[in-house]
Amino acid sequence: MLKRFANASQILTVDSFGSGRKKGQAASVLNILSGHDIIVENGLVKDFIPFHSPLTTAHRTVDVKGKVITPGFVECHTHSLFAGDRSAEYRMKLEGKSYEDIAAMGGGIVSSVRAVRETPESDLLTLLLKRVDNFISQGVTSLEIKSGYGLSYDAELKMLRVIKKAASLRNINIIPCFLGAHTVPIEYKQDRKKYLSILINELLPVIKAENLSNRCDAFCESSAFSPDEVEQLFVVAKSLGFNLTLHTEQFNNIGGIELALQMDALSVDHLEVLKDEQIKLFGDSQTVAVLLPGVSYTLDYSFAPARKLIDSGATVALATDYNPGTSNINSIFLIMSLAARKLKMTFEEIISAYTINSAAALGISNETGSLEPGKSADFAILDISNYEQIIYNTAQNFNQMTVKSGKIIYNKSN
Ligand code: NIG
Ligand code: FE
Repeated sequence: MLKRFANASQILTVDSFGSGRKKGQAASVLNILSGHDIIVENGLVKDFIPFHSPLTTAHRTVDVKGKVITPGFVECHTHSLFAGDRSAEYRMKLEGKSYEDIAAMGGGIVSSVRAVRETPESDLLTLLLKRVDNFISQGVTSLEIKSGYGLSYDAELKMLRVIKKAASLRNINIIPCFLGAHTVPIEYKQDRKKYLSILINELLPVIKAENLSNRCDAFCESSAFSPDEVEQLFVVAKSLGFNLTLHTEQFNNIGGIELALQMDALSVDHLEVLKDEQIKLFGDSQTVAVLLPGVSYTLDYSFAPARKLIDSGATVALATDYNPGTSNINSIFLIMSLAARKLKMTFEEIISAYTINSAAALGISNETGSLEPGKSADFAILDISNYEQIIYNTAQNFNQMTVKSGKIIYNKSN
């Protein structure tokens, strides 16, 4: 049956006019409809029609009573599947130790690896589902979740299977991402080649065969993998049909960007230490720059040059990077607030960055990320009457209802 979502004060369509992204200045136009209802058929947006206009086909009406409708938020970079607690490390960070000092002392990624390896699958699933539900309660309808705290053949597969199980238990789009190349695990520190070969020759094929992920990530950094090592992994991943994405230019500028752009990665993420000459590379590129201001906040260092990227025509997306070490932040609304104040992005650029552009970063912007006829009816219904309230109120979750493929999957009053 048709559904009519009626009486919204504003519908932010974030219409990309079929382009599936908003590059540069285009991100500042949201295409807002007032006085219109959304008609949904078979889970897809069918049409926008004026308030009270007659509809002859049988339908159900959901009265949204003057609230704001936005496309469902797309959270395109998270490490939501982790176990354990790194609060002691955060204490050290607050006392002045750097992320790299802590990693050198045996903390950092490897301490989450120990915890994930020790935790049974069923407990990991319980932890993950709570975190997924938290994102759903914020109006998120597509969520990326990375592996990368297993770092062995068995533990990486364990993580990806838990993510797949979570995806089968929740009604949103969960996009698993293989991050076996997060760092070299302790047992292979003396033989990194062997670890890389496990990733390339053993894990990629089985992940493909079991359909556990179609997305491959790596951490290109002096303390993790060199551009040359990432290239070896990406060449094989690409030939198997994986989409590519890369953590790069987070602490050191060692050439990851150039490699990722050359290999047509869907996104490059972090970019806190991007150089001016690299910014220009984005203007002609389809690769999305995913900015993670929660990391700069947590580690108290530089923020990515968002303004310069947008002004040079880049497609810019935002994400939490939710993880236990560098961004223990699961609030998309806090990220939006940081983007306004610290990245100097406008209200409109921020909404584009958390919807259509983050969908582009995941390669799903032909089906979601904006409200256009024929796309999935994925939206958030926010309890405000003007979208400017989203940023004006720091970190406040206004989401009242999350709608995925036309179905109400979360309602705050329930
Ligand atoms: O995105 N940069 C590498 N990976 C994560 C940090 C993970 C961790 O410290 O556990 C990030 O910042
Ligand atoms: Fe990350």
